[in-house]
Parts: sequence; C-alpha cells; structure tokens
Amino acid sequence: MRRPCCSLTFDGPRNCPHVTTSSPSPSARPKRVLVIHYSQSGQLDSVAEQIVAPLRADPSVQVHEETLRPLVPFPFPWPFIRFFDAFPESAHMVPPPLAPLSLTGDEDFDLVILPYQVWFLAPSQPVTAFLKHPVAARLLKGKPVVTVIACRNMWLLAHEKLKGMLDDVGARLIDNVVLTDPGPTLATFFTTPAWLIWGRKRGFWGMPDAGLSTGQIRSTGRFGRALRDALHNDLERGTQPLLAGLGAVQANARLLISEKAGTRSFYLWGRLIMAVGGPGAWPRKPLLLLYVLFLLVLIVTVVPVSLTLQALLRPFLKGWLTKMTAQFECPSGSATDRSHLYDD
Ligand SMILES: Cc1cc2nc3c(=O)[nH]c(=O)nc-3n(C[C@H](O)[C@H](O)[C@H](O)COP(=O)(O)O)c2cc1C
Repeated sequence: MRRPCCSLTFDGPRNCPHVTTSSPSPSARPKRVLVIHYSQSGQLDSVAEQIVAPLRADPSVQVHEETLRPLVPFPFPWPFIRFFDAFPESAHMVPPPLAPLSLTGDEDFDLVILPYQVWFLAPSQPVTAFLKHPVAARLLKGKPVVTVIACRNMWLLAHEKLKGMLDDVGARLIDNVVLTDPGPTLATFFTTPAWLIWGRKRGFWGMPDAGLSTGQIRSTGRFGRALRDALHNDLERGTQPLLAGLGAVQANARLLISEKAGTRSFYLWGRLIMAVGGPGAWPRKPLLLLYVLFLLVLIVTVVPVSLTLQALLRPFLKGWLTKMTAQFECPSGSATDRSHLYDD
C-alpha cells in the first residue's frame, strides 16, 4: 500500500508540491544548488548523478558539486579488520577530518542536495565530518536540504542522527529519498560485506547481487526533474516537500527493533574499543574480533527472532508499525500519484 506522508498538507498553489508547470522562475538570478558527494564504490555518486543531471542541463540552475575527501582516505574494498574498526567512530559520530573544502561558508545556495550512505546504523563518517564542519554550519543555516540515502536497508536510526545534525546547524530538511538494496534482509547481511570487503558484487549461493539494481538507480532521474520544476516555481522557499507523490521512500518499521539493538551494541562496544586506542591501534584488534563474533550471533538471532515475533504479534503491533512507518517516511512519503509525470 502506498501511503501519503503524514505531514502533507497544502497551503495554496505556490507551496503545493503537486504543481508541475515548467514556467520560468520569477526571480531574476539562476537558482543555485549545492550537491555534496562522497561514494566509495561509485554507487551513491551514480544515484546523485541521475538526480543532478536534469538540474545541470537547465540554464536557469547553477549546480556546485562538492566532493568530500577524508584526509586519510577510507579503503575500498575494505580489509576485514579495517571494516569493523570503523564502527566505534561511526556509531559515536566522531569522524576523522576532511581535506579542505572548496567552499568557505559564505556562499548562498537556494537548495542543498545531500546524498549519504549509512555506516553502522549512522551516517557515513565523511558525511558526518562535513555536517560537523564549521563551514557546514554557515552554509546550511536556514537552507532547504534534500537528503538521498542509498544503503543496504537499515537507515531508520541513521536518519534520526542526520536530522539531529541538520537541526544543530539550523538547516531545513524538506525531502528524503531512500534507495535500499532489493535483496532479502538476511541475504544482504552476507552479500553486502562480500561486496565491501572482498569486492564481490555478484550474488552467490543463490543470493542476489549486492547493492542497488541499475533500474533503481536510473529511475531516480524523476527526482531531479521534479526538483527542477519545483525550483522554477520557487517551491523550495516553502515548507512543503518537493518530492511528494514520487515514491521517494518506503520505510520498513519492522527493522526498527533490530536497529535499536544494533545501535545499542555499537555504542557500548564502541566506547570500550575507543578506550583502548584510536582507529588502527593494535589493542583494538582482539576486541574487534570478539565483537564480530558477537555481531554474527546478534544477526542470526535478534534479527530473525524480532521479525518472527513481529509477524506473530502483527495484529497487536499493527497500529504501532503504521505510526512508525508514517513517521519515518516523512517528509516525502511513499505515495506515487505524481510518478507518471516525472518517470522516463
Ligand atoms: C563501513 C560500512 C558500514 C555499513 N553499514 C551499513 C548499515 O549499517 N546499514 C546499511 O543499510 N548499509 C550499510 N553499509 C552499506 C552502505 O550504506 C552503502 O550501501 C555501501 O557502502 C555503498 O556505498 P558507496 O556509494 O559509498 O559505495 C555500510 C557500508 C560500509 C562501508
């Protein structure tokens, strides 16, 4: 079932996200759009590229693209221990510094597109580093931000953390697009690490390929076309989502319990591991190996047990799940009534 977003109310034609005309913007100067980039495999960059292409092709829109570069790059594919060594700082949101940005913070953008991936149930470290950077505080204050998540499929609590960081800098989250790997949850627990650690994207043992499908990535062009029309109509100045009715996000609130258990364990173990040394320090290694074993047990117990229990208790949990789903799908929602206007 496609749900309209809970916050979808209309306050007149100028702020109505269903306006689809392409009339020129009343403002004289071109609209300025900032796009932030960070991607290891190129997947998130491909998604961002689909969204940005219609904006870049429009003479009335200027696009500035900022690529985030950690001072010490994260490896890809990741060595096994190095991968897990990233969880304490990811969970505690204490990333290493970025190389200097090309922006000073004094630039004035009409719209900011912030694609991000999830690392250990938190926004990826480079994106967190950007949002905690003093330049971001000046750049994003009062600005409308469209977030775009591409991850395995556990993003609910990462997005809560990202919303907190946007609040801290006074930015306005007006839309959230989410793309998750199409494979079954349990299969992706194995296929995603195989991709990220061994570089093996092809599925194995009957499991699907890791990552998003090319069709999913290509279809995100509709969001770029809708943003272009919204900018023409100055809708980014309003408070309503620009991407409602386009199937921007489908939340799976059934994963919330597993995410909460995972976040708690990342946080507690992360604190212990950070206490014995910084990233890469050898005393962290035995603790990390122990944690990997613990995590495997968590994945093969808590996730299936919580999903089975929820299936059994569905009649009692229905109201709660519906409420949580609507909450996590805000502001853009899962409704698709406008998709036909923007699909290829
Ligand atoms: C260190 C690390 C941790 C990750 N943790 C999660 C996670 O908690 N939840 C999730 O859905 N995806 C997780 N992913 C997958 C990423 O969100 C993303 O889909 C993948 O890394 C591809 O992104 P890229 O465009 O940077 O290559 C993780 C990836 C990495 C590298």
